[in-house]
Amino acid sequence: MRLESYQVKENNQLKHDGISYEVLAEKYGTPLYIFDETNFVQQVKKYKKALDNPYFETQILFASKALLTRAIGQLIAQLGIGQDVVSAGEIYTAIESGVEPSKLYFHGNNKLDDELIFAIENNVGTIVIDNRSEAKRLNAILTTQAKRQRVLLRLNPGVEAHTHEYIKTAHNDSKFGESVFDLTIKEVIETLANYPTLDFAGFHCHIGSQVFEEQSFLDSATEMIAFAKMIEDNLAINIKEINFGGGFGVYYTEEDQPFDLETFLPKFVQHVYNKTQEFDLKLEKVTIEPGRSLVNAMGSTLYRIGDLKTTTSGKNYLFVDGGMTDNIRPALYQAKYEALITNKAEETADTIYTIAGKACESGDKIINDYPLPKAETGDLLLVNGTGAYNYTMASHYNRIPKPAMIHILNGVDRLTVKRESFADMMRNEL
Ligand SMILES: Cc1ncc(COP(=O)(O)O)c(C=O)c1O
Repeated sequence: MRLESYQVKENNQLKHDGISYEVLAEKYGTPLYIFDETNFVQQVKKYKKALDNPYFETQILFASKALLTRAIGQLIAQLGIGQDVVSAGEIYTAIESGVEPSKLYFHGNNKLDDELIFAIENNVGTIVIDNRSEAKRLNAILTTQAKRQRVLLRLNPGVEAHTHEYIKTAHNDSKFGESVFDLTIKEVIETLANYPTLDFAGFHCHIGSQVFEEQSFLDSATEMIAFAKMIEDNLAINIKEINFGGGFGVYYTEEDQPFDLETFLPKFVQHVYNKTQEFDLKLEKVTIEPGRSLVNAMGSTLYRIGDLKTTTSGKNYLFVDGGMTDNIRPALYQAKYEALITNKAEETADTIYTIAGKACESGDKIINDYPLPKAETGDLLLVNGTGAYNYTMASHYNRIPKPAMIHILNGVDRLTVKRESFADMMRNEL
């Protein structure tokens, strides 16, 4: 397993910022989500600085879907960045945690009327309209409330990216946004911009996730700016902001080679500026929405190893006390991870194990055929790179309570999410 900067091996033990994982397991139990707050804060500050420029205002909007708890919301509030939210629940959590509502961008392809009302009543800064039908509904709601709302429109710029490949296409079947190639797109934008209730500020796009090609972000920026200029010229509408979405790839295993965001962001800003100059577009604000790239490497999950089994075909299973209920990604889309036995950190990885969870599903595996030192019941297994889309996707399948979460800041650990009890799981059941 590739170690993070906060992990060190010492006397055959792996430690997180000086704290042994055994101590954490004793203190908080397992499975346990561990989040490195020190590096998270430093990284957000670095990225904010990397976006600084003399041309336009920039803002990082943390994509809540990657990881949102009260403690994370409080950090977002302290760091003064904005947040991408996709449900009333995420809006509620952000505001309860102290995030300024004006810094929230509300996304979603089917925002319910109740959610739109909730967003308006709570002064959410920007609603990112997904489609023409939503624009109509939002206008109707705002009319009855005699209110005006700042909005962006989500577009598909025809650049679709996923991991190492990206394509330019006029055909897309995504459930998100309106296509720039739709023959009626100008009418859609004109109608939206003419609603007296909507303060139409510009566009949003998000080209995919785990994207490793810098060029795909640069190309989508070019397409968006060219399109924005065409709209300005044709419809005499001022485009003030473009939100370029998230999707910056991160390291899970050796197969992933992410680019360095801190060096890419100044290049991206310069590219956006050059294109706005070329197309004569006066953007006031540029926003990006990183989720995974801000939190994934800060998170890891600690498990206690239970039974071990070798099948008649010779497959070695190593069972942990969590699994798909705390990390659904391998079962959902064959996501890959790396792991280490923290109390055998310096021993040779000479045995191949399939690390499986305790849920009643054959697909409940975290890593297939992975080399580890010879494992024993009671050892501690750490899986790195679980900061994003693990806690937020956790379930109660098999009535397994959700794990606790701790943050580690400058070598000090603190509980941020309590381990669920059985009673917690039954709380709303009559
Ligand atoms: C609209 C939007 N913005 C931002 C993100 C964050 O993506 P990532 O976590 O890959 O950076 C997503 C992820 O699905 C998204 O749909």
